[in-house]
Amino acid sequence: MLYDVKDLSLSEKGRMRIEWAQREMPVLSLIKDEFKKKNTLKGYKIGACLHVTTETANLMITLKEGGAEVFLCASNPLSTQDDVAASLVKDFGIPVFAIRGEDRDTYYDHLNKVLDSKVNITMDDGGDLVSTIMKERSDALKGIIGGTEETTTGVIRFKSMEREGVLKYPIIAVNDAMTKHFFDNRYGTGQSTLDGIIRATNILLSGKNFVVSGYGWCGKGVAMRARGLGAKVIITETDAIKAIEATMDGFQVMKMDEASKIGDIFVTVTGNINVIREEHFKNMKDGAIVANSGHFNVEIDINTLEKISSGKRTVRDSVEEYKLKQGKKIYLLGEGRLINLAAAEGHPASVMDMSFANQALSAEYLSKEGKNLKNKVYSVPESIDRRIATLKLKSMGISIDSLTKEQEEYLTSWEAGT
Ligand code: ADE
Repeated sequence: MLYDVKDLSLSEKGRMRIEWAQREMPVLSLIKDEFKKKNTLKGYKIGACLHVTTETANLMITLKEGGAEVFLCASNPLSTQDDVAASLVKDFGIPVFAIRGEDRDTYYDHLNKVLDSKVNITMDDGGDLVSTIMKERSDALKGIIGGTEETTTGVIRFKSMEREGVLKYPIIAVNDAMTKHFFDNRYGTGQSTLDGIIRATNILLSGKNFVVSGYGWCGKGVAMRARGLGAKVIITETDAIKAIEATMDGFQVMKMDEASKIGDIFVTVTGNINVIREEHFKNMKDGAIVANSGHFNVEIDINTLEKISSGKRTVRDSVEEYKLKQGKKIYLLGEGRLINLAAAEGHPASVMDMSFANQALSAEYLSKEGKNLKNKVYSVPESIDRRIATLKLKSMGISIDSLTKEQEEYLTSWEAGT
């Protein structure tokens, strides 16, 4: 079996951590048992480009138990948990191509290794697997029936491919399922981003000016959790509606030009480029901390930060000190890559349970319906979304009311009025 991981001797630690995550993934575990019984994915090869974490490991194991042949590479050079990669290879016989800290060439070499396996279904987190196929690996298109996409950034990329008429096969937008983005993006990013910043810096958040750029589902989660730790949270936005929402949620909203003068900690979660740039760095206070939790490392203009600095040094794991030519110091966390995975372990298993239940059931859906779909971006079928919500509630021991017959009729009739 071909694979490329850091060190197979790390597998024991990885296996224990995979089991630990599994305890918090009851929905995925149920799907695994069902897949195993039905041999649902027999005959399918699945190529996944995801963060190589304990949660992803449980998804890979689920797909394999369902009969699929699975190949995994990393969706970010800094997010791989090397012990997990080792365990997937050694204990579960799953080919993994991922090493934490790999350079750009190795990162793409690993993607290509997955594509060499002639996969039938792609599973992306950010869209790099599909865009590699489009740009240079059209040979890999043969045999592909469809793909899934995990995150907002990837869905945006695929929708733009669809608009330009260049999308080559159907994609299920897992991110857009309610049981994904309401929970993973909000509570997952919220908790894990704060976890990453705290692990990297051990800084007290209480009383600090904490600037969150972007008030989408991820930004909402980060802002909510930073407030919970006593920070004074400031939101910057370009979307008027989200800015009103942030204001009415009780946050201060202002332009980055202003926020950059008073912020102690900055987190970008916009999905856009150069959100923090030269003029903002120059405004910042000495000692300002800057991090990103958006998918790509483009939200902070690091090239310019390098240019306006006279030097840099690593002062702690995941913390680089830039000495600006003007004299003050700015601290960049995790090289501007997703701080929740670079300095912590990503979203906790309990939310990934629902995200990855959507992935597994979407793969099953593609195996059955892929042939009938067009080269478009599709939503996860609502029946899958609702089923996951019901299973998750059950696993939490929570029961909810059902509509009475009278209530159902009331909701479907137009006659009843004042
Ligand atoms: N994205 C964010 N957190 C993650 C995790 N724990 N596993 C896989 N992908 C993630």
